[in-house]
Amino acid sequence: MNPKARSNPQVQGKELIVNADSKQDAPKAVEPSIQVEGEAVKDSKDSVATDVMYIGIDLGTSRSAVASSNGVRDLVSSVVGWPKDNISTKVLGDKTMFGEDVIKHRLALDVCWPLADGNLAFSDLQGEDRNRSRRAAEELLAHVKSLARPTRGQAVYAVVGAPSEATKANKQAIIDIARAAGIDSVMVVSEPFAVAYTVDALEDAIVIDIGAGTIDLCRMSGTLPTAEDQITVFKAGNFIDEEIAKRLRANNPQVQFTINMIKKAKEMFSSVTDNAQRAVVTFPVDGVPTEIDITNEVREAVNLIVPEIVDGIRKLVSTFDPEFQERIRSRVFVGGGGSQIYGLREAISEGMKKIGGGNVILVDEPVFAGANGALKLAREMPAQYWEKLRNA
Ligand SMILES: Nc1ncnc2c1ncn2[C@@H]1O[C@H](COP(=O)(O)OP(=O)(O)OP(=O)(O)O)[C@@H](O)[C@H]1O
Ligand SMILES: [Mg+2]
Repeated sequence: MNPKARSNPQVQGKELIVNADSKQDAPKAVEPSIQVEGEAVKDSKDSVATDVMYIGIDLGTSRSAVASSNGVRDLVSSVVGWPKDNISTKVLGDKTMFGEDVIKHRLALDVCWPLADGNLAFSDLQGEDRNRSRRAAEELLAHVKSLARPTRGQAVYAVVGAPSEATKANKQAIIDIARAAGIDSVMVVSEPFAVAYTVDALEDAIVIDIGAGTIDLCRMSGTLPTAEDQITVFKAGNFIDEEIAKRLRANNPQVQFTINMIKKAKEMFSSVTDNAQRAVVTFPVDGVPTEIDITNEVREAVNLIVPEIVDGIRKLVSTFDPEFQERIRSRVFVGGGGSQIYGLREAISEGMKKIGGGNVILVDEPVFAGANGALKLAREMPAQYWEKLRNA
């Protein structure tokens, strides 16, 4: 229970350890017991590893990001592909492919997106589909680890951000998969918490992560957020893509496109206002490349998420301790790929005027905010604690 939630003003749960010397809101370390969904990882190493690389991972529906203590940061689309048959093996080689390579060669590949709505997809699947999805998740995580470029013999300790509403079983699945992917020690935290950690917004703030599968809104009040501090809206980037596609199909039935083409166009031209540059794309019509203006379709679709976000903020503010409502309204941090929509910050601020106003801040490096926060957490956890979590 959140201490500032109106329904129960008592302080419950475990608090963050805050370093009094450091800047306000910046915790020195987090009480291990509140963080860890790591029961499955055995405490079996007696010695403390000396050569350790820490990594922060944001395992996203659309893209996964990694930030490493060696300074590496990288991104990969969360998609895995295996050659479909002997011919594709001959053309592409007998290896698993990841990210943009998969999208490029998708016609020759058996393609799998191992995350859906922010969570590992395999847990909702059965039989062969389940095995395939799980294998894709393991291979993706092993690939993400390799992107961080650990040196030979270096132990890898990772903090992985999971969606705020991930169940205990989902978190456990991430741990199991990280283990199978060769990560030596792993801790799972909620994704908005990781973003809050990176912008030092652990107290009296609202953090919003606009992803592909979900928009996660999380209220921070100096403790680890609980279920009542978090709202997940299942209308995010993928929803916008579908809405643009729907409109384009209705307005221009002869245009040929895939959802991937729509996503790319949206990322280039998304704007909530009508005074941005025109969104003119070249899509085939009967096989002939043709310029199409999709400005209105894009604008209408991206605008659909604004009331959802404002309503989420309203709910989190209105159920907070009245004395602190003003403060959290004035510290609304927005990150995630979707936060790059042109004019979104102003549109949310405008929407908030009806609920008493507020101040919206876009986080720096929106796509890496979760991974950066996870890395920061990883580095600040005591070494002995990591050792305890270490795999057999
Ligand atoms: N400039 C942009 N304008 C609008 N949307 C964008 C832009 N850049 C990226 N996006 C969208 O942001 C989403 C990806 O964001 P992000 O990488 O934060 O998501 P994710 O972490 O993979 O998803 P989730 O958090 O739901 O698991 C995609 O839907 C993508 O199309
Ligand atoms: Mg995300």
